[in-house]
Amino acid sequence: MSIRFDQAAGTLSPAGPTLTRRMSDLEGLFRDQNSWRTAVADGDPIVYSVVSSPVPEIDRELPQSITTIHPGTTGGEFWMTKGHQHPNHQGEIYLGMSGNGGLLMFDGKDTRWVDMAPGTIGYIPPGWAHRSVNVGSEPYSFLAVYPGGAGHDYSWVLENGLGQRVWRQDDGLAFVDYFAE
Ligand code: F6R
Ligand code: ZN
Repeated sequence: MSIRFDQAAGTLSPAGPTLTRRMSDLEGLFRDQNSWRTAVADGDPIVYSVVSSPVPEIDRELPQSITTIHPGTTGGEFWMTKGHQHPNHQGEIYLGMSGNGGLLMFDGKDTRWVDMAPGTIGYIPPGWAHRSVNVGSEPYSFLAVYPGGAGHDYSWVLENGLGQRVWRQDDGLAFVDYFAE
């Protein structure tokens, strides 16, 4: 089968489920909770959206999705996805499509960061929780291809963090320990 992505419209055809994550959906994830509350009260902006292919999330299938993270910071921390662990440890592939972002990975001990630009393939090995971050001034989009039976565990990140956080610093970025005050 062939699936067409319309970059301007941000849609897949044929399409599967579409997901929109607003600031209020990212409760407990930004370090500066006061800034997060202010942003929720002040229009609750869309932080990212995910359009999926119609391939089912079941064992042996390879669903795909395209995530677009809008540019922005909350309390100095770059806008990002919630992040998750795949409970059934399996690998995943990302392909940068537009904008500048990064792939943060954490296995419970070590942290890895991969700069993502159009054409970059980011590989997430089995057992590494992952989050995507927009570190640019344009929307950052990437394609994800993942095993349909891997599952998605969001509570893992709330409990274990992701090793580091990514902050805007001058014109660049800085990393700080996830649970640092
Ligand atoms: C799928 C995957 C991506 C993310 C998407 C949104 O396994 O890693 O498609 O699901 O980038 O991020 P989350 O799921 O963390 O809200
Ligand atoms: Zn994943």
